[in-house]
Amino acid sequence: MSSIDRIFADTFGQSPDIVAAAPGRVNLIGEHIDYSDGFVLPFAIADQTYAAIRIRPDRLVRIASVQRRNKIVSVPLDDIKPGLKGEWERYALGVIWAMGVKQGLDIMIDGHVPLGAGLSSSAALECSVATAINHLFSCGFDLHALARLAQKAENDYVGVPCGIMDQSVSLMAQPGSALLLDCRDLTSRNVSFDVASNGLELLIIDTQAHHSLTDGGYARRRQSCESVVAKLLVQSMRELSLEKLSASKDLLSDTEFIRARHAVTEIARVHSAVAALEAKNFVELGRLLNASHASLRDDYNVSCPELNAAVDASISAGALGARMVGGGFGGSAIALIKAVDTVGTIHTIENAFKRASFKAPRFFTSLPSQGAQIIRRG
Ligand code: GLA
Repeated sequence: MSSIDRIFADTFGQSPDIVAAAPGRVNLIGEHIDYSDGFVLPFAIADQTYAAIRIRPDRLVRIASVQRRNKIVSVPLDDIKPGLKGEWERYALGVIWAMGVKQGLDIMIDGHVPLGAGLSSSAALECSVATAINHLFSCGFDLHALARLAQKAENDYVGVPCGIMDQSVSLMAQPGSALLLDCRDLTSRNVSFDVASNGLELLIIDTQAHHSLTDGGYARRRQSCESVVAKLLVQSMRELSLEKLSASKDLLSDTEFIRARHAVTEIARVHSAVAALEAKNFVELGRLLNASHASLRDDYNVSCPELNAAVDASISAGALGARMVGGGFGGSAIALIKAVDTVGTIHTIENAFKRASFKAPRFFTSLPSQGAQIIRRG
């Protein structure tokens, strides 16, 4: 019996009916454009969140986690509505609400995606629960519908105005590939992302700087983009070219102009990154990562001193390219480096953080991994 099954049985007195898993993600490029109908290129990391679930004969939902075993949250199904206060379990309850579950459940969560690191532990939690429920009740939602339901849970239940990227990649990712996702209709294509056989490594640097999408900065960026689209009478940022944007500069505030410039140039960089990957041109990929970071730092204004330090130190240690990933304001950066330089790069970043008196960063690497799956049925 695996440890989640054992802890489930110890906590709830019976075995789970189903265990599902869903991964966190790193976005290679295409940042802050999922909610502007853009294209993104994320991949799933190996770290996953597991959800073990058993159907109850009544209308009570009980939820606990391996990491906080002694705290079981019990909520009657009818009380699970937006506005219900809570902690991490809201992400799971939001999925139950969004999927319209009609029966009580016992749920045990085992989360292995680093928390607060900008690696989408929240999407991993939502998608593990959504995948388990979809199979348990034979709901028949396809992965696009499931991604939208998980996003609805986060937007309308938890109250985080995130886009669709994290849930989509957590559900749809394939090992060895990044997912080129069209955020308008969720069509996607797998793009082979094999750094290892090219002697490279993608280093993930968790700056340990606080990261939150709920304190307004993220929502304000979305609003700027919506305002630009309304003022310029286009359907989305994706219909804008740099020329058209520049010609319309007078219609926009200075802030709106630079936010839109990020969106327009970042969408172009995603397509260039796909071409670079397909040509195995990692030098060009590195250049695009650097350009993405500069745009997020200077035009979109979502970086922070720790992220900039991680990127600058990586480049000074010889990285091909580096950039912040995810929502920003903290969280993680990535650096595309030669595998032989890993130890030296880590050392350089650690020293830069020490000099700036930042909290010590954490380092991970991950190959592109599998999206959500059913681990077993009872
Ligand atoms: C967070 C959100 C995503 C996306 C990124 C920025 O991870 O959850 O929807 O907007 O920020 O690219």
